[in-house]
This record gives sequence, C-alpha cells and structure tokens, in this order.
Amino acid sequence: MNGETEKKIDELLALMTLKEKIGQLNQIIFDIHDIDGIKEKVRNGEVGSLIFAVSAFAGHDEYQMPELSVLNEIQRIAVEESPSGIPLINGRDVIHGYKTGFPIPLAMASSFNMELVEKSYRAAAEEAASEGIHWSFAPMIDVSNDPRWGRIIESAGEDPYLSGQYAVAAVKGFQGEQLSAPGSIAACAKHYIGYGASEGGRDYHRTEISDYTLRNKYLPPFREAVKAGAATVMTSFNDVSGQPVASSRYMLTDLLRSELGFRGFTISDWEAVKQLMRQGVAEDRKDCACLAINAGLDMDMVDLCYSDFLEELVNDGKVDMAAVDEAVKRVLRIKFAVGLFEHPYTKKLDVDYDKHMRIAYEIAAESIVLLKNNGVLPLCKNSNICLAGCMSDEQKALMGSWSSPEYENTVTIKNAIEKICNTGSFGCCLSSVPYELQQTLRNADIVILAIGESEKVTGEARSLCYIELPEDQIKLAKTAKRFGKKVVGVICSGRPMALESAEPYFDALLYAWHGGNMAGEAIADILFGRVCPSGKTAVTFPRRTGQVPIYYNVSSSGRPVNGYYGEEEINNYEDCLGSPMYPFGYGLSYTTFKYSDIKCNIAEMSLEELRGGKCFEVSIDVTNTGKYDGKETAQCYIRDTVSDMMRPIRELKGFKKVMIKCGETKKIIFRLGFDELGYYDRYGAFAVERGLFEIFIGPNCLTGTKITICVD
Ligand code: GLC
Repeated sequence: MNGETEKKIDELLALMTLKEKIGQLNQIIFDIHDIDGIKEKVRNGEVGSLIFAVSAFAGHDEYQMPELSVLNEIQRIAVEESPSGIPLINGRDVIHGYKTGFPIPLAMASSFNMELVEKSYRAAAEEAASEGIHWSFAPMIDVSNDPRWGRIIESAGEDPYLSGQYAVAAVKGFQGEQLSAPGSIAACAKHYIGYGASEGGRDYHRTEISDYTLRNKYLPPFREAVKAGAATVMTSFNDVSGQPVASSRYMLTDLLRSELGFRGFTISDWEAVKQLMRQGVAEDRKDCACLAINAGLDMDMVDLCYSDFLEELVNDGKVDMAAVDEAVKRVLRIKFAVGLFEHPYTKKLDVDYDKHMRIAYEIAAESIVLLKNNGVLPLCKNSNICLAGCMSDEQKALMGSWSSPEYENTVTIKNAIEKICNTGSFGCCLSSVPYELQQTLRNADIVILAIGESEKVTGEARSLCYIELPEDQIKLAKTAKRFGKKVVGVICSGRPMALESAEPYFDALLYAWHGGNMAGEAIADILFGRVCPSGKTAVTFPRRTGQVPIYYNVSSSGRPVNGYYGEEEINNYEDCLGSPMYPFGYGLSYTTFKYSDIKCNIAEMSLEELRGGKCFEVSIDVTNTGKYDGKETAQCYIRDTVSDMMRPIRELKGFKKVMIKCGETKKIIFRLGFDELGYYDRYGAFAVERGLFEIFIGPNCLTGTKITICVD
C-alpha cells in the first residue's frame, strides 16, 4: 500500500464516528426480499460488506444473484448518502466456478497442473466480477486427510506443498496482475486454521494440533497464500487444541500477522463470533465480540456481534479504540486495493464464456485419475457398449457441492458417449436395477458403469462415516461380470471412496470426481482414447473406511507396523492390509513411463552454503515407453533420515507435469535448497539439520527411485 493511500485512509478514519468505524467491520446478508432494509442500513453507515448467501450452508443453497442495477444502486447509496461515503465490498463463495462450472478443487488439485488451476480461477473471477462480486471466499486450503469429512472436496488434498502451490495459483487467478483491474476479485484464504483436522471427519468438530504439526502441516498453504498476496483470510469454526481460532490472539495476530506478515483483513466464518458461546469461552454475544476483536478478527460475518456491542465495549474500556481503528484500516486498505474508491460501480465485462468452457474441459480431463486398467481402455468406438448407473444421465451431481453455475447445459456422460459411439453398437440402461440391466447388456461386450455419489453427501455439514461404494452399485458390476462382460467403472464423487470391496469386479476404474459442466465430454474423450489420462490423486484412497486416517506423509513408528509403504511384519489391523488402495500422487496413463538415471549435481553441501542460497539439483530421465503421447507428473519427495523431531517417510517438495511423446525422453530437474530441506523444529524455528536426505523422484509417493545427498 503506498503512502498516498495510507494518507487517505488516515484522513477518512479521522472523520469517522465510532459507529461508522464499526459499520465497516460488519458484513450482512444480501436478502433479496429486504432490499429496502439493506439500503436503510447502508445509508446509515451500518454496513461494510454484503454477502451473497442465505445460510451458513451456501454450498447447498440455490442462490439467485440480484440485477447489477440493484447492486449499483445500493453502492451509490453507500458512496453518496452514507456518512463516510465508503463503498461496500461484495463477497460470495466462488469456490470452483461462477457461471462456468469447474471440477471441485480436490479434482483440480489432482490435475497437478497449476497453470490450468490459475486459468480456472481467473475465469471464475472474470465471471463473478462482471456480476458485481468484488471478493470470493476462496481458495479453501485446509490440508485434509480424512475423506469422511465432506469438505475435503473443497481442499487441495492431504499434502501441504501441493496445497500451497494450489493456493498460489488460485490467489493469482482471482487477483490477477492487479487487484483493482476489471475482472480481478479479492481472494480469501480459508479456513484459518486446522479445520481439516476436525476429529473423526465430523464437520465443525474439535481438533488437537500441536504447534509442531500446525507449522509443518496446516500452516504452509497459508504461508504461501500470504506470500502470494491474498487480500483476506477467513477464520475457521474450529478450535485448535481447546482454543477457538476466532478468539485466539496467538493465531490471528502473533502467527498470522507478526510471523506470516499478513497485511490484509480477516473475516470470521458464518456466525463464528457468536458461536464462541457454544464453544463455552464466552458468556454472551457482547463477550464474543470482545474476545474476537481483541484477538485481531477484523470483520464479523452476519451475526451482528460487532454491530450490536463494539460501541459499548469501547465506551466501557474493554476494547481499545486503537483495535477498532486497526481493523478498519485493514478493511479500507483492501477496499482501496480492489479499486472500489476509484470505480465503485460494476460494468458488465465482455466475458468469453466459450473460452471458459474450454478451460473447464481441459482441467476436467487433466483431473481424471485412471486407477485401474486391465487393458480394456481405451475403448473402440465400434465396440458393443452398454452404459448403466446413476451418473449416466446426471447433470447436477457432476457439478459437485459449492456450485453456483447453471448445470442444465451440462452434457451428460450418456450424451457424450453417444456422440462418439456408433449408435448401432450402443445401448443404455438408465435403470440401476440389475434385472433391467440384464435385458440391455445381453449383446454388449463392454459395460460402462457411471456411478459414484451425489453432491448432496459432500461439502459443508455433509460428512459420512461409511465411504465405500454403495452395495447396489457393486451389484451392477457383479451382474455384468456374471454375464462375462468387461466392466469399466466411471466414478463421479467428491471424495476418495473406499473401493477395496468393489475393485475386483471392474476391469478398469476411471475416477472422474465431480467434474463440472464439461465432465461428460472429458470422461468420454478419455474412455475412447481421444485424451490420454494424466490425473494423479491429491489424496490417498483408503481400502476401507476403517483405515481412515491414512496418508502418505506419515512418520515412521518405532515398530514395523507402517503399512503405507509396504506390508510389514505387524499389520496395522488384523482384518485389513496396511497399505492404501491407491497412494497419494497415483494415476495411470494409456502409455507407460520409465524413470532412469537419477543424478545430483553435488553429493554434499555445507549447511552454510545451503543457508547462503545454494541448491542441490536432482535430475532424472523420464521416457515414454508406450504407444500413446501422454502427460506425466514427475514428483520429487524427500526424506530427512535422522532429525531432532520425527519427520515424514516422504514429503512432496516438487512436481512437474510434462507432455512426453512416444519414445521421447525428457530430463526433469528439481532444485532443493534450504526451504525444501528444512522444517519447523520443536522450538517453532525453521531449520535444516545436518545429515543425510533421501531424494525420491517418480510417478507417485511409493516410488523407490532415489538418491542420497548430505548436508554437513
Ligand atoms: C460457510 C462456510 C464458509 C463460507 C461461509 C459463507 O459456513 O464455512 O466456507 O465461505 O459460510 O458462505
């Protein structure tokens, strides 16, 4: 922020009454049925921001945006009729698309293509900005390794590094080169912090996170988002080890501001200030307001605790005017940065929706993960095919939760396959009844089962304690198998489902997630080989629900029980293998890739050299040894073999997705320096400890291709 703007902010602040200052810290619901009431509050200077959602479950609400003229009129009242003339900032959950529906974030992260992620968020920003939205409550960057948690769909999965890269791509996509430019909107890194650790995958539940784990697992994506310039941060509903984040000065001021250097403003999650009462740390709403503002929580989302009590709290001396002034200055800084003072009114932008649909197709195709293929894929378009299953003709479910876009124009999997297949050889049974399926599959050679889960059991307040594929879906596969057919499963889901009991009945498994408007085309093009699958899962697939939590960046226990990296002499469980169904970073292709000749430019380096910025350069050759040109994501993991604190058996520190043609070899290089080899130690300091590091490079986290380097 430049000096000129700071001067304007100080001048504005000097003219504002306490009431007007508090108004800036108050976000209210834009209720389309009470526009006059909203205008009155804005005119009185009681409102700093509008949220376009009607409930705490915006991901499950059908919400109709008002006309732009209505929003501009309300903004005019704020600018011309309210006491301080400060424009409103309009916020909405633009989670994975606005009008164009992109795949759910967990799917987009599984593309490992951050360029495409950035383009997707840019497209969403242009569409939202054109409708009067200045600010999105996204990206959600809660590291999560519990697929029972419905909100895992909104995350970038279980890895801190991938989540951090995703955060950067999303912030850059939303905020563009210049936040005040047309088509840019403010990002909101959420939910700060530890929400993904909700006990048992139960939404809103308590968490138990040591500072050591907080700094090395949950904080890294927020560090990256702040470095990328995220304009705002949203506090999470949860506590961290008994202290609600919304009332934690340590989290909101000491860590987020003093340590991470965050200069934007924080907003609570929906009624998260008021809920401090339910969490038992506040007696009443006044107490809630006092705790939150003194912790450093700037804006209050919809529960009016600030609006109703901050004036009294300041007058009672329980809250310093300086705390209110600081919060207001942070809000004004972002309003200036968004350009609201220069151009408070929205003009429709010339949005290229066709281009956005193409981006949605590309990232849908690159997000799809081929989990199994007994050689049945890709299909020949003359094959005798029978399509069945609940997702065959679905439109809305493919959009996933937290989806605002229209879905009526979504091409279904059935339509997309029909476009490719010779109609004579294609039968479709939209029933999920095995008997009815039998009638259709008689003359088919191959049965495609488009199955999975409804978007209604994913997202906020939608956790599951049983994440296996439903029995009736497995029955379809068994029926098809009984008739001697090849069975291809296309699973459309918001989370990694537990597939051990289903997997034997499928010859191929294509994991298409909830892939957005273009999911149908992307799935069909992969099934028939027009696109070579390249997705790699951003989250571990458990064999069964009972294995959860199971994740790749686990530290080694003292006894040989860690089944993730191979079965050991002692099982994690007597009734289940210890290894995952599919590991983090896993995904097959129609071609094959050979990793060879791993090298490092130097075998060892001093800690001082490392600290001085020198890096190890580890390279590997990747050869396409198959019959299809294809994209491969080479992943680089480290293992700190001996350290003061226990470290994960593998930690992702880099990935590169490259197109490699048949027979071609590409050399891929990863630079590993102080930042990559260090971790936050027991004292909270970032450090690299001397000793050996194993460096693994391969197609997923289980790769054994490694080289050892030494920091001495
Ligand atoms: C919800 C969600 C949050 C969302 C907010 C506004 O409860 O937790 O992610 O941004 O409320 O809809």
